[in-house]
Amino acid sequence: MLNRVSPLVLSVLLVVAAAGRSPHADELEQLIKSGQISAKISENILEDANLDVPELVTKYRYPMEIHHVTTSDGYILGMHRIPHGRDQNNDPNVDRPIVFVMHGLLSSSADFVLMGPGCGLAYILAEAGYDVWLGNARGNYYSRAHVRLRPDAIFNTEFWEFSWDEIGNLDLPAMIDYTLEQTGKQRLHYIGHSQGTTAFFVMGSLRPDYNQKITSMHALAPVAYLANSESLLLRTIAAFSNPLDALARLIGFGEFLPNNQIMSWAGQAICMDEVVFQPLCSNILFLIGGWNEEQHNATMFPVKLGHTPAGASVRQLAHYGQSIDNKGFHRFDHGLLKNRRVYGTYRAPRYDLSRLTAPVFLHYSPADPLTDVRDVDTLFSELGRPVGKFRVPLETFSHLDFMWAIDAKTLVYDRVINLLKSMDTHGLNGLEGLKESD
Ligand SMILES: *[C@@H]1O[C@H](CO)[C@@H](O)[C@H](O)[C@H]1NC(C)=O
Repeated sequence: MLNRVSPLVLSVLLVVAAAGRSPHADELEQLIKSGQISAKISENILEDANLDVPELVTKYRYPMEIHHVTTSDGYILGMHRIPHGRDQNNDPNVDRPIVFVMHGLLSSSADFVLMGPGCGLAYILAEAGYDVWLGNARGNYYSRAHVRLRPDAIFNTEFWEFSWDEIGNLDLPAMIDYTLEQTGKQRLHYIGHSQGTTAFFVMGSLRPDYNQKITSMHALAPVAYLANSESLLLRTIAAFSNPLDALARLIGFGEFLPNNQIMSWAGQAICMDEVVFQPLCSNILFLIGGWNEEQHNATMFPVKLGHTPAGASVRQLAHYGQSIDNKGFHRFDHGLLKNRRVYGTYRAPRYDLSRLTAPVFLHYSPADPLTDVRDVDTLFSELGRPVGKFRVPLETFSHLDFMWAIDAKTLVYDRVINLLKSMDTHGLNGLEGLKESD
């Protein structure tokens, strides 16, 4: 075991990882050099922090495929597939049901593998007998490409002119169609976290024909209504989100680059104990999603920092800000005149959740600052086919715990897998009488 990572080890790792580097490999190196992350990082953890998703999955000897999908408006999305298990359910020739897993805001497919085999949702699903497809939304680290537009163009931010409306309306259908086409299947299970649930609700309401392609949908930390959200950072963004120009002055145009004033402001406002939480308070994801010390595996902290945040547009945050502001679930508000042009109405239309006829299961926690119980109840009551609503049986369970909690498997994933299996064998008939467990 190394106490302090020597430059030699670091440079060896850099060579190893050169083929596929995680989004923050360089910054992490700086944090370690400057002593902001303390000494005890093993070689193995540091490697996991530095590798990108395909390399990471391959390192743990799971099968990995990379796929590229082009959306109808030209975005090129990177998908990652773990087609079967390593220790169990590992015969490549067996036909297995698909689970499509979609990440949240500022995140990527890394969310579901970075905790490693036995803990990461993607590995657990593969071992349980599923063909696992991990999506990546436009603009994140693995989907930062377009047939025509350039994400890094300085004077033209057209690449970044999207919110989670487009992710739900265009990205999800493209990735789902591609997955079904590649596997010759008719339907798949969908698991989403946070924005991965928002985008699904958008798809189900704007593209209702996609509901029939979904065997079941599991929303981890479901976000649609935010009227009662306690996220300080999103509330602040909400205060500036109308008109958009004010917000642009605060957090910029185009790509959301959380390394300016808002970060130091948010860090000071939200994180009191700066000494303990310094690296934490400079990570936007933790500032938005909150923090639960109890379920945080400190050993894995560098890996989380290496892979997140993974990129987003300013509009994705602005759209959530609008949801807080208007207390509804509406399409992106461009302002009166542009709304008229885009939607045919001066006001942004609301998403009609009753059109969502796919069977939906909600998994939520009252301690999550983004899913107030009242908002979750409103969502549940408006869905076209709500099947189950499950409260995580741990008082402190928070937003990011759905991906990275020490006990995520026993608290959440085991139940999700039981529901998947039940839907596979009996469909909705096996779930008669199930409505709420809280
Ligand atoms: C935390 O992560 C390390 C490294 O993956 C692992 O060995 C350890 O068992 C984890 N701790 C807990 C409490 O799960």
